[in-house]
Amino acid sequence: MTEDRDQNGSRAFHAEALELDAHDPLAQFRGRFFLPPNTIYLDGNSLGPLCVDAEAALQAAVATWKLGGIEGWTNGPSPWFTMAERLGARVAALLGAESDAVVVTGSTTTNLHQLLATLLRPEPGTTVVTDASAFPSDLYAIKSSLALRGLDASKALRLVNPDRHGILQEGAIIEAMHGAQMVILPAVVYTTGQLLDMARLTTAAHEIGVIIGFDCAHSVGSVPHELDQWGVDFAFWCSYKYLNGGPGAAGGLYLNRRHWQAVPGLAGWFGAAKEIQMKMTTTLVPADSAGRLQIGTPNILSMAPIDGSLTVIEEAGLPALRLKSLTQTDFMLRMLHADPAFNCVSVVSPLEGERRGGHITIQHPGAAGLSQALRTNGVIPDYRPPDMVRLAPAPLYISFQDCFQAVQQLKLLLQDPSGWQDLQPGLVP
Ligand SMILES: Cc1ncc(COP(=O)(O)O)c(C=O)c1O
Repeated sequence: MTEDRDQNGSRAFHAEALELDAHDPLAQFRGRFFLPPNTIYLDGNSLGPLCVDAEAALQAAVATWKLGGIEGWTNGPSPWFTMAERLGARVAALLGAESDAVVVTGSTTTNLHQLLATLLRPEPGTTVVTDASAFPSDLYAIKSSLALRGLDASKALRLVNPDRHGILQEGAIIEAMHGAQMVILPAVVYTTGQLLDMARLTTAAHEIGVIIGFDCAHSVGSVPHELDQWGVDFAFWCSYKYLNGGPGAAGGLYLNRRHWQAVPGLAGWFGAAKEIQMKMTTTLVPADSAGRLQIGTPNILSMAPIDGSLTVIEEAGLPALRLKSLTQTDFMLRMLHADPAFNCVSVVSPLEGERRGGHITIQHPGAAGLSQALRTNGVIPDYRPPDMVRLAPAPLYISFQDCFQAVQQLKLLLQDPSGWQDLQPGLVP
């Protein structure tokens, strides 16, 4: 180790990583995951890896289908007919929601469509507020939903811009809420990793009669929430990030009890009250729960792995996961700030733990090439245009040593950009 590296605390950080790993109560969970060999997988905020429990749950669903055919809907260890509700109750526990307020269904985008179709009232002057840097699919869904209701998005959609540091200020959002009917925000901003103050925003929205919903794609399974206690109206997410449910796994939605009488905007027979669904009535009698927002037959094979992957999260416990996650991102941020080798990147994620989700983001003009070079060198991050690299140390399977090694690799690449600065992003960077 060179004198220079020691001066920048590298040796101390390495010792700290070893110490933290030695006392990590969650270290055992790593063995439950299939991780790409010889890599540090920091992309669990895009696609969580497979765990043995998810694989077993998927195989169990396949075996039920294989051996029992149609019987699988009502018999077997995990009857498919009520799987969405059963898994919903388990996800509800991660979100601080009562069991019936959550259902596993659809995808982030289709669930947002359904929630808009159900809760947005198309009236003259209807305005929806959202974050200008929101995930594009959310913006597309909001715009198309407004258009379907005969509203002009150029007037009905109010966008709140982040500040010059890329941070969304809650005060600015609250100001923009005045006169709006609905506000839709990320719980954790997908670019910067900023965690919004959901309690404050919800209180402020309700004080002026605004309905508020959150995209929890980057927080479910990572950051504990208290959706019922805060009084959030609705939320939606996917299950393929921190919930490790697999590519295209069924997503989920939360509907606060105060909206359980709302007529489903996009109606379908799986939104019916379970006890009468199979009576085949020609008029829908929706379930007295969030389940009323389901549409058609659930994608059982895209839902079954969640049955297993949730078990791992439940065993670890969300508070312990959050604590380790914050310690890991804090550790990486400290490494980035301690060493002048990182002066050429900007760290855009908030430094305060209570304002940070599960990933950190750095900005560099050559981020596309840097991200590819990290992959080539065994660190899997992701790239978000135009200039961001996201690093997500998911606490179930990432060690502090991994965090240390990843930052060290980043440093080596930044010290010699000749091999990567001209690389262009691939189709899925
Ligand atoms: C924050 C956020 N919202 C929405 C989406 C879109 O999700 P889906 O493709 O599952 O509808 C994503 C996908 O990664 C996301 O990260």
